Amino acid sequence: MAKDTGVTATLTFGDTTVTMPMSRPTLGPDVVDIRKLYAEADIFTYDPGFTSTASCESAITYIDGDKGELLYRGYPIEQLADKSSFVEVCYLLIYGELPTAEQLKDFTDRVTNHTMLHEQMVNFFRGFRRDAHPMAIVCGVVGAMSAFYHDSTDIFDPWQREVATIRLIAKIPTIVAWAYKYHVGQPFVYPQNHMSYAENFLHMCFSVPAQEYKVDPILTRAMDRIFTLHADHEQNASTSTVRLAGSSQANPFACIAAGVACLWGPAHGGANQACLEMLREIGTVDRIPEYIARAKDKSDPFRLMGFGHRVYKNFDPRAKVMKESADEVLGLLGIEDNPTLQVAKELERIALEDPYFVEKKLYPNVDFYSGIILDAIGFPTSMFTPIFALARTAGWISQWKEMIADPSQKIGRPRQLYTGAAHRDYVSVAER
Ligand code: CMC
Repeated sequence: MAKDTGVTATLTFGDTTVTMPMSRPTLGPDVVDIRKLYAEADIFTYDPGFTSTASCESAITYIDGDKGELLYRGYPIEQLADKSSFVEVCYLLIYGELPTAEQLKDFTDRVTNHTMLHEQMVNFFRGFRRDAHPMAIVCGVVGAMSAFYHDSTDIFDPWQREVATIRLIAKIPTIVAWAYKYHVGQPFVYPQNHMSYAENFLHMCFSVPAQEYKVDPILTRAMDRIFTLHADHEQNASTSTVRLAGSSQANPFACIAAGVACLWGPAHGGANQACLEMLREIGTVDRIPEYIARAKDKSDPFRLMGFGHRVYKNFDPRAKVMKESADEVLGLLGIEDNPTLQVAKELERIALEDPYFVEKKLYPNVDFYSGIILDAIGFPTSMFTPIFALARTAGWISQWKEMIADPSQKIGRPRQLYTGAAHRDYVSVAER
């Protein structure tokens, strides 16, 4: 719970003065509690894009955009990416503490034993067009889970919420891998419960019945790190979407499907696909200045994908870890010299020195490097955002659970600054 600071904020306009309490978070700026503003003063606040608005209380993730800091339940992302595993991070996000060895084993067993999909879901996959974007399939199949798992949709039953949580974390790799298999026209590969979470995912994506496939441990580690780095990110667009959908008491599968849909956009999770496509479009180092000039041109909507972030105005701590991983994976695969990578390295160098990017604090974000790793592992660009969705499912469901258990939670219902026509009378068609 946030602490009441005892300090109040006062807002004066015309003859009216309103006093509002201020709360102190564990970390980050104090918060003015404006909940009674409309009732007491008949005014709204205006904050498109929520740049200054805290929409909820949360104890899960903290970001300090100026310091370039990201904490899951207080633990720095760098330490988790280095020492932990994605499944342990899921436990941490959901339950608030690092698990004991016994708790981790029990949680891993529960996740592992829910990895298969209801067999009838195979038909559901087959209903999609072959050329469907895997993100469209993931969105549809996650939403359809509410039609297959009726026994975990009662949001008022804590046990059902728990089962839905485990099911989502366990089944999302299978859903994403099958979306990929369907997309490329290969047979679905069933999960292997003796494999780790990341290894199993790579196996479901890249193995075929015709020959044995052994997952490289370095790629498994890189995949696991990508999952950890994307697991949660405070009240970003897709997480806020999950919370907003959940605030109407919609079932958890419907809420996570809403999150998947929101993540798809190129300004959010879709940036990893857009970034690699941009690097390929640039093609050669000599064309970079043309693209830098376009990014600066106000009359051109083009933006350098993989650069900039709403919250990080120093550097994206996930990008630092991801860069190390990219070097490791590319070194292992012996592809340090491919043209896309050369363009990426040179673009990064130029953008970090260019006054436009320096002044606006536009640094490479996590998506700049994650696409390079996923490409090297062998994923097509269309799979980048579904992989982000796989990882973010852990954060979405943790935030959803926290919201449902919060007694101050209400249906989300923003107000507006209305600028349409004032009252006018209907005119019949003949008189218009
Ligand atoms: N290339 C060129 N100019 C940019 C870029 C960019 N990538 N990003 C921001 N700017 C400029 C923008 O034109 C504006 O300039 P001015 O002040 O002169 O009008 C200024 O920087 C601030 O931009 P903004 O749009 O007000 O910033 P925002 O906080 O609303 O947007 C963003 C954040 C991530 C949507 C934006 O930086 C962007 O579109 N980046 C490219 C897409 C991308 O890589 N997204 C992935 C984000 S990380 C993954 C995730 O968490 O989802």
